[in-house]
Amino acid sequence: MPEIEAVLSEIAAEMASRTDRGDVATYIPQLGRIDPRKFGLAVAMADGRVFCAGDADEAFSIQSISKVFTLTLALGKVGDALWRRVGREPSGNPFNSIVQLEQEHGIPRNPFINPGAIVVSDVLLAGHQPREAIGEILRFVQFLTDDETVFIDSEVAASERATGFRNFALANYMRSFGNLDHAPELALGVYFHHCAIAMTCRQLALAGRFLACDGRNPATSHSVVSAERARRINALMLTCGHYDGSGDFAFRVGFPGKSGVGGGILGVVPGVASMAVWSPGLNPNGNSRLGSMALEKLARAMNWSVFSP
Ligand code: DON
Repeated sequence: MPEIEAVLSEIAAEMASRTDRGDVATYIPQLGRIDPRKFGLAVAMADGRVFCAGDADEAFSIQSISKVFTLTLALGKVGDALWRRVGREPSGNPFNSIVQLEQEHGIPRNPFINPGAIVVSDVLLAGHQPREAIGEILRFVQFLTDDETVFIDSEVAASERATGFRNFALANYMRSFGNLDHAPELALGVYFHHCAIAMTCRQLALAGRFLACDGRNPATSHSVVSAERARRINALMLTCGHYDGSGDFAFRVGFPGKSGVGGGILGVVPGVASMAVWSPGLNPNGNSRLGSMALEKLARAMNWSVFSP
């Protein structure tokens, strides 16, 4: 197997020279200000070693990648009862689409499309003020990372709230079907803030390590979730983590991944490593263009796939 340091620096060098970087998301104005030339990559091995390249220590907006952490928390809170309110199937539609919600009576296809994640936020809000639920999510991510510098970028959260007309539509629509227990603005307050979590590739790779290690954090030996739950979260990431680009990501990369419109992707190779990549330019499905490409190269170079031993 090649040396991982050499592989990472080769990928980072190639990505730095590419001009086909995709388009930075502008529908959240604060995200539109990010330099599209940024590129970071970090790999946290199951054995504890961490390798980084490029801008791996610069914080970025993890956006929808946070949905992995809120799903984990919500499953801890209500267990399988969550699946009465959210499905587990790929949607084949964009992350902010409303069309399926009418046909499927306000039950979102999966917890990673926006309406699914808004229901998850609603679950986390039970018995709390929004500020407490947001604090619980942030502390959980800090616990996973073992780093209290992970923060919520309140300007990004405000920018998303100011332009979040579709998310307000989705939340109101679900409320009309009885699939939202709280006022839409409260559930969305939680949602906008967890999407605005900012962290570095290094921190994100570490935060995802429990998914590569049967639900345990190998650094602290804390059990985060059961091995079965970690497997199931990985299954959802593989089938739904890239929206209507999930099939192509599985085909090209071959392991679970979750993207965000900030240009980050969290990847998991069970038993081997978790990793994070960041390049702000997106492909038409809203997934990082160079990030997907970098993970495809990394998977090929290291022979990492869930489809072969
Ligand atoms: O709701 C939104 O539009 C954003 N906060 C999150 C969307 C997102 O990251 C989709 N991922 N590719």
